[in-house]
Amino acid sequence: MLEIKSYFFCCLLRYIQSLMDILEFLEKSPDEQSVLEEFVNALVNIRNRHNDVVPTMAQGVIEYKEVFGQDPVTSQNIQYFLDRFYLSRISIRMLINQHTLVFDGATNPVHPNTIGSIDPHCQVAEVVKDAYESAKMLCDQYYLSSPDLVLQELNTNNRNQPINIVYVPSHLYHMLFELFKNAMRATIENNKEGSNLPPIQVMVAIGGEDLTIKMSDRGGGVPFRKMENLFSYMYSTAPKPQMDDKQRAPLAGFGYGLPISRLYAKYFQGDLQLYSMEGHGTDAVIHLKALSTDSVERLPVFNKTARRNYEVTQGADDWCVPSREPLDLAVFRLAK
Ligand SMILES: Nc1ncnc2c1ncn2[C@@H]1O[C@H](COP(=O)(O)OP(=O)(O)O)[C@@H](O)[C@H]1O
Ligand SMILES: [Mg+2]
Repeated sequence: MLEIKSYFFCCLLRYIQSLMDILEFLEKSPDEQSVLEEFVNALVNIRNRHNDVVPTMAQGVIEYKEVFGQDPVTSQNIQYFLDRFYLSRISIRMLINQHTLVFDGATNPVHPNTIGSIDPHCQVAEVVKDAYESAKMLCDQYYLSSPDLVLQELNTNNRNQPINIVYVPSHLYHMLFELFKNAMRATIENNKEGSNLPPIQVMVAIGGEDLTIKMSDRGGGVPFRKMENLFSYMYSTAPKPQMDDKQRAPLAGFGYGLPISRLYAKYFQGDLQLYSMEGHGTDAVIHLKALSTDSVERLPVFNKTARRNYEVTQGADDWCVPSREPLDLAVFRLAK
C-alpha cells in the first residue's frame, strides 16, 4: 500500500516543484535576454523531471490492481482521470517543446522546414516506414522474425503526390509505433512457427476533411466481448514488463499503447478506433484532420460536471446479462 502511494506521490511532488519553478518567473522581466535563457533552461529541467511519469503511473496502477483487484467504479474513475491527466500532459509537453525549440534558434538539419515540433509538410508514408522499422527491430529481438509491411497511399487531392499534412511527426510516430507493435505481436503469436507470416497492410488516404490511416493485421483478432477493454489502462494480455529491465524496451505489457495513442489522435480532433474479426485479424484506424485549420487543441476542463463524474456510482444492471463470458469458460473457472 505504502509503495503504491509512493508512485503517485512521487509524481505529485514533482508537479508541485515544477509549478514553483515556473512561478519564480512571475517576478522577473521577460524583456531581459538572460531571463529568457533562464526560462528555457527551467523548461528543459521541467521536461526532464517528468520524463518517466507514464511508466511510474503505470507501475502504480499495476500494483493497485494486484492489491485491490478491479471493481467497475474504480476502473471507470481511473480511466476518466488518466485520460484527462495524460491529455493535459501531451499538451504541456507540446508547449514546452515548441517554446524550447523555437527559442533555441537552431534549425533542425534533418527537417529544416519544421516549426518547433510541427512539420508543415509531414510526409505520412515516411513516418509509417520509420515506425514500422523501429517496431520490426523490437519484434525481431523478441521473436526472431517479423511480418512484412505492405504500404498503399490514396491521394484523391493530388494523385501522384505523396500525402502530407501539417502535423507533429513525433505524435504520429508514437501512434503508429504502438499499433505496429500490437499488430506484430498478434501476427506472430497467432501464426504457426515456421509458416509464412501474413504481412501488415497499411493504407493511407486523404480526402477533403479527413486523413485516415488503416493498419490491418491477420493476427487472429479479438473477441467482440473484449473490445471495450482494449483502451483500458488496466488491460493487457501481455506479461507484466520488468521496470528494471534496462536492456530491452518492452514490446507490450503496460496496456498503455492504445489508450495513449488514442489521446494523441484526439489531441488534434482526431480519433483512433479498432475493428476486429475474431479468427481473422484486426483493423486499427487513425482518423486525423486533413486541414490544419481543423486541427485545434482539445483539452479537458475541470468543472462541476467533471467533479460529478467521479461521484457517479454504478447502479444495478437494467438488462438481463446472465454471463459475461462463454459458458464453458465460466464453468471451467468455477471448477478450479
Ligand atoms: N492488433 C491486435 N490484435 C490482437 N489483439 C490486440 C491488437 N492490438 C491490441 N490488442 C490487445 O489489446 C491489448 C492492449 O493493447 P495495448 O494498449 O497496446 O497494451 P499492451 O500492448 O501493452 O498490452 C493487448 O494486450 C492485446 O491483447
Ligand atoms: Mg501495445
